[in-house]
Amino acid sequence: MKLSTAIFQILLGPLALAGAVPKGESKITYGGYKAFRVATHNNPAAIKEKISKLSAVTYNIDNREHLDVAVPPQEIAAFEALKLEASVLHEDLGADIAKEGTVAAYEGVSAQAVPSLTWFNAYHAYADHVTFFSDLQAAFSNQSELVTAGTSFEGRTIFGIHLWGSGGKGSKPAVYYHGTVHAREWISTKVVEYIAYNLLTQYGTNTTVKAILDKYDFYILPVVNPDGFVYTQTTNRLWRKNRQTRSGQSCVGTDINRNWPYKWELTNGASTNACDETYKGLAAGDSPENKGLVAFTLGLKNSKGIKLFIDWHSYGQYILFPYGYDCSLKPANYALQSSLAAGTAARIKLSYGTSFTYGPSCSTLYATTGDSVDYLDSVGLAQYAWTIELRPTGSGTGGFVLPAAQILPTAIEQWEGQKYLLAAA
Ligand SMILES: *[C@@H]1O[C@H](CO)[C@@H](O)[C@H](O)[C@H]1NC(C)=O
Ligand SMILES: *[C@@H]1O[C@H](CO)[C@@H](O)[C@H](O)[C@H]1NC(C)=O
Ligand SMILES: [Zn+2]
Repeated sequence: MKLSTAIFQILLGPLALAGAVPKGESKITYGGYKAFRVATHNNPAAIKEKISKLSAVTYNIDNREHLDVAVPPQEIAAFEALKLEASVLHEDLGADIAKEGTVAAYEGVSAQAVPSLTWFNAYHAYADHVTFFSDLQAAFSNQSELVTAGTSFEGRTIFGIHLWGSGGKGSKPAVYYHGTVHAREWISTKVVEYIAYNLLTQYGTNTTVKAILDKYDFYILPVVNPDGFVYTQTTNRLWRKNRQTRSGQSCVGTDINRNWPYKWELTNGASTNACDETYKGLAAGDSPENKGLVAFTLGLKNSKGIKLFIDWHSYGQYILFPYGYDCSLKPANYALQSSLAAGTAARIKLSYGTSFTYGPSCSTLYATTGDSVDYLDSVGLAQYAWTIELRPTGSGTGGFVLPAAQILPTAIEQWEGQKYLLAAA
């Protein structure tokens, strides 16, 4: 890397995560950045103070036990001299992003042919996801249609697919999935695509799958934050929020998963600072994406109701149910939710031994306000409203940058978990 580029990136790294990168900015490569997981032992402020003179980028949200930080190359020695209790997440974050981001070109299929499973061997550009879904829908047009849930800040359609079984279109309660609300959580896109793919391709051959799709209408929205997702591909792989600008604010982006109009007004689980990763917006539900998603959600609630909602995220390997906004609250059907989550975790583990922790969102992970799960539970009246945080745990390598070789195993274990859950729920 040329020195001038390096300096440019060093200057931009932290600002980028703070949301200040203007449009048309050149791509941040994170070349030579070394990523560490630093133990905080419930005192993240002390660690943050120690690293405050460095331009290290902190990129995890829950800092109670650890900070995940990416340290630019010229500061690695200074970071190591601090002798913090740390393990290495990426020897070279930029190299891992480059490897992961070798997005394969999607060739498409001839009319009405089923897309190939090789789709799940690589990550893809946003436009290819749109094409993949339209190809999948065209191949199974007797039991699917494309749906839309409004428009993003930059004008992209929030698209999805609706699947149904023998009862006909719209006849059953909804199973409703959101992927990629946080832009950098790429694996979530692939997982919901894999579930849609298997429901359709196995409906005609597998009685278990047929029974599931005959019992529920599925509404699968793979990229509910399209602007953020595109931005992670053009500019900053670690971007989280949407790309909404607001007058008088220099920082870009609202966290769509802190903007839902339920308990939004509470102050313990989101930020009022537009530069923060969990910025909640200026009013409940005021992001364009949230407006579209709320309307879509209410449509499902008011037709056949919502059996199950899952907001798919990464990373951490958690199954989380309500509530996010209050750590002392448990849902009315707590025992049932716990046992379903335990069963789902056990089924997930059977495939590759991957362990998932489960429990109420706030007490298990951290407090969140204006989040989708609380809204779907309390307003959407979903019987089950969950968040699933996919691989990895974070103690190994990966983080948001999960190697492409793990797409298929991650998707397979979740598909197994969903087949269990949908039969048992
Ligand atoms: C749709 O067509 C496929 C292929 O002919 C068939 O296996 C499936 O049962 C049909 N689905 C419905 C809901 O009729
Ligand atoms: C159908 O799916 C179930 C559940 O995953 C599985 O146990 C079974 O072996 C499959 N049957 C066929 C015929 O593939
Ligand atoms: Zn997330």
